[in-house]
Amino acid sequence: MKFLRDSSVKGKRVLLRVDFNVPVGDDGLVDSKEDWRIEASLPTINYLLSQKAKIILLSHLGRPGGRVVESLRLDPIAQRLEELLGHPVIKLNGLSCQDIKRGQIVLLENLRFYPGEGKNDSDFAKELAKLGEIYVNDAFGDAHRAHASMVGLPRYLPSCAGLLLEKEIRVLSEISERAERPLIVIIGGVKISTKIKVIKNFLKKADGLILAGALANTVISAKGFAIGKSTSEEEMVEEVKKLKLTNTKLHIPVDVVASIDSSGRASSRVAAVGNTKEKEMILDIGPDTIQLFGQVISQAKTIIWNGPMGVFEVEKFAQGSKKIAQMVAQSDGFSLVGGGETIALLEQLGLLKKINHISTGGGAMLKFLAGEKLPGIEALK
Ligand code: 3PG
Repeated sequence: MKFLRDSSVKGKRVLLRVDFNVPVGDDGLVDSKEDWRIEASLPTINYLLSQKAKIILLSHLGRPGGRVVESLRLDPIAQRLEELLGHPVIKLNGLSCQDIKRGQIVLLENLRFYPGEGKNDSDFAKELAKLGEIYVNDAFGDAHRAHASMVGLPRYLPSCAGLLLEKEIRVLSEISERAERPLIVIIGGVKISTKIKVIKNFLKKADGLILAGALANTVISAKGFAIGKSTSEEEMVEEVKKLKLTNTKLHIPVDVVASIDSSGRASSRVAAVGNTKEKEMILDIGPDTIQLFGQVISQAKTIIWNGPMGVFEVEKFAQGSKKIAQMVAQSDGFSLVGGGETIALLEQLGLLKKINHISTGGGAMLKFLAGEKLPGIEALK
């Protein structure tokens, strides 16, 4: 794989694929607390500016599914990038870009407005390729997606990894190959279907695997316990049963915070796993689980964390996620965290600086560390 510093970009039209998939508020602005992915791309952009390149930025935002969704236009991103860079950023409404001068920065429209992006359509990739002379990929967060701008473009242009992608590959490879033991992996979030392969791999690779959040509900259900009206993927239960659920490396909640209302308006209670009532939902981990997970985390020499423990946006159900965040931040081991919600939580708690490596990838980070090949990285080789 070629890297940016070994590539000649001076004065060239550079197509720079970034991952600017950050939350945009109802006010149409990017919150300065949630712009870490934009910030992470600044070294590459500044390097290209120093080389007087003509910079054409490509990104996706959200999941518009191949059609224009007004609220997912990239204008707020351009505005925030301009503030962070202190350099003008010209936002275009489409994907064409004729005149661009040395040292200028142009941001094209959300790639996922175009069906060709998600379908990895070769004509779409060729159209994009015509805009530049060299392709630089810095979008680690999207590296697990085989989309046209990630895997199609490098077929038609000389290509290399940007500074952020290079750093992610270096740090994550180091962890993957030489993590100090015990290695503890914490996976939260909603869908077990998107993480099942990663879970299987980590059950082999790690010394301990903690599962929480709605995805653990599917595991609890597979173990034959009642989960009431909790979010789960029942169609995944058979697949989950194939995991060795009695594996001593696997840690799932033993008690939960349950309520009939996920917005926090109704009363809530702590219930042992299996005691969730028919109308209740599991919305956070309980105090015994916090203690249990705490014991596992306290032994770790390396911790990998992605995904909250429950509905952390609602104060009433945020305790589990907050406590785990504090334990990870206080750990003497090397901590590695990825994923928008997890990083937002640590930022809210003022703990982000205590984490050793913050990855810009959520799904991409987990897959990389679990040993899967990421199409966006493979395509650069
Ligand atoms: C992410 O947020 O993990 C990346 O930007 C990829 O987004 P996606 O999950 O919508 O493909």
